Amino acid sequence: MERPLERRNAVRTAVVWDAVQSVLEGGERQVLDIGGGTGGFAVRVARLGHQVTVVDPSPDALAAAARRAHDEGVSARVTGVQGDLGTLAEAVPEGGVDLVLCHGVLGLVEDPAAALAAIAAVLRPGATLSLQVGQRHAAVLARAMAGHFTQALQLLTSTDDGTPHPGERRFTHDELRDLLVAGGFTPTAFHGVRVFTDLVPSSLLDLEPGASAALLELERAAAQRPEYLTVASQLHVLATR
Ligand SMILES: C[S@@+](CC[C@H](N)C(=O)[O-])C[C@H]1O[C@@H](n2cnc3c(N)ncnc32)[C@H](O)[C@@H]1O
Repeated sequence: MERPLERRNAVRTAVVWDAVQSVLEGGERQVLDIGGGTGGFAVRVARLGHQVTVVDPSPDALAAAARRAHDEGVSARVTGVQGDLGTLAEAVPEGGVDLVLCHGVLGLVEDPAAALAAIAAVLRPGATLSLQVGQRHAAVLARAMAGHFTQALQLLTSTDDGTPHPGERRFTHDELRDLLVAGGFTPTAFHGVRVFTDLVPSSLLDLEPGASAALLELERAAAQRPEYLTVASQLHVLATR
């Protein structure tokens, strides 16, 4: 039986995992997980039979990813490389990757357009980018609901015209689409991720029988409805090059 933490994690990642799996059908693929952290996604992808390279600047994260791969019996299919978005060319051959996962990283870099150009260079033509970023409107709402009104206003009015981004950069749907198109990508599907999950007390999920499964079903149903994209904590997009 799943433990509460695993259940919550499954709800948080289900929409993105569904989308990633949909592009991995067929034969073995070369997958690059940029900022793959402790390997949660990389190991799941490897368990499907694909080769995964995890690039991350953190040696601790890479060590945790290697342990996880070992525990799951997929060490032979997971390679960790210490590096970052600026050193991708050293980690994988140019044009040699079938799928890039870039989840929770684009908002951390100074120049997202340059990061997308680096990703485009390693993808083979026609290959897919799975990109997940923080969604700005949800972050504004979360700060306002916590009483941090000045921070909420700063985030609401921050744009790419040179205004500094407080902390991690968050994107609106239109900003992300425009950035991708300018970088030569064709977005094929947008998903709202964690539309409700971050608003629900975790005790409810832990104690109420069936609550996690029902929430997961609700998240899946809302994920592709454009009217919910503006309240989703995260945006996920599949884009081809
Ligand atoms: C928020 S975590 C996301 C981890 C994982 N992708 C996930 O979705 O759970 C961000 C990860 O990006 C890594 N990171 C930070 N800056 C980076 C950069 N410039 N290039 C690549 N990875 C970076 C961090 O070490 C960390 O593991």
